[in-house]
Amino acid sequence: MEFSESVTSKYPLVFPLILPLSYAAHFDIVNQYSYTVWATTVPGGGRQLNNDETWTIKVNANTTDGYVWARTGYNCDSSSHGSCETSGCNGLLQCQCYDQPPNTLAEFTLNQFQNLDFIDNSLVDGFNVPMDFSPTGGCERGIWCSADINGQWSAVLKDPGGCNNPCTVIKIDEYCSNSGSYQPTNYSIFYKGLCLDAYSYPKGDQNTKVVFNCSGGTNYKIVFCP
Ligand SMILES: *[C@@H]1O[C@H](CO)[C@@H](O)[C@H](O)[C@H]1NC(C)=O
Ligand SMILES: *[C@@H]1O[C@H](CO)[C@@H](O)[C@H](O)[C@H]1NC(C)=O
Ligand SMILES: *[C@@H]1O[C@H](CO)[C@@H](O)[C@H](O)[C@H]1NC(C)=O
Repeated sequence: MEFSESVTSKYPLVFPLILPLSYAAHFDIVNQYSYTVWATTVPGGGRQLNNDETWTIKVNANTTDGYVWARTGYNCDSSSHGSCETSGCNGLLQCQCYDQPPNTLAEFTLNQFQNLDFIDNSLVDGFNVPMDFSPTGGCERGIWCSADINGQWSAVLKDPGGCNNPCTVIKIDEYCSNSGSYQPTNYSIFYKGLCLDAYSYPKGDQNTKVVFNCSGGTNYKIVFCP
């Protein structure tokens, strides 16, 4: 929007052609942990975020299947390859693929039905850091998933970087999305207890609101360890 304002005054005739291309949402990604995390965005890549650092990304209008998550315990070597405690991207800082569990996931799709944005948090792939995913104004409330990560994991799901998902660990249909009639399980109920607003199992959560909408053009803030 800053761009369109400066263009308007100088090139009033060109402006209407340029506006659709310049139309994007800004996401401020903030690390409030005392330690470093490696923020990852799809589309967009990855960046090291030290304590109190903010990374602002511009997301194109009409983006679908957008994701943001944090990686922890990542060590870059000179070729930008490294290993992560959680959510690996095959060791690449600039992520080119989706996630590797466990991770707390922010999901978004912009300018869809009625030009609305749809946002949610998902614990379907597990949980690694607490997260707050909020619009910076002008719509419904944000999504809080600020559970205590030093809390009581189920011993079965415990992972060095957090808490893994039951499908990855236990590998039976009842816990995976390929099961036709997926129902809440004792593990998804455990996740629901951590974050009421988040998806806790692959096909569901009909009983609680997990998808929030904002008008297209809204900007967002994602805070790790709010
Ligand atoms: C999103 O795509 C639709 C359909 O192609 C288009 O009409 C609309 O102008 C686009 N929205 C923005 C904000 O670019
Ligand atoms: C969940 O249920 C399974 C199967 O009954 C059981 O083996 C497991 O210990 C339970 N886990 C928790 C966290 O209650
Ligand atoms: C957007 O959110 C409002 C408020 O919760 C809700 O009433 C409305 O149905 C939602 N719209 C869509 C298209 O989901």
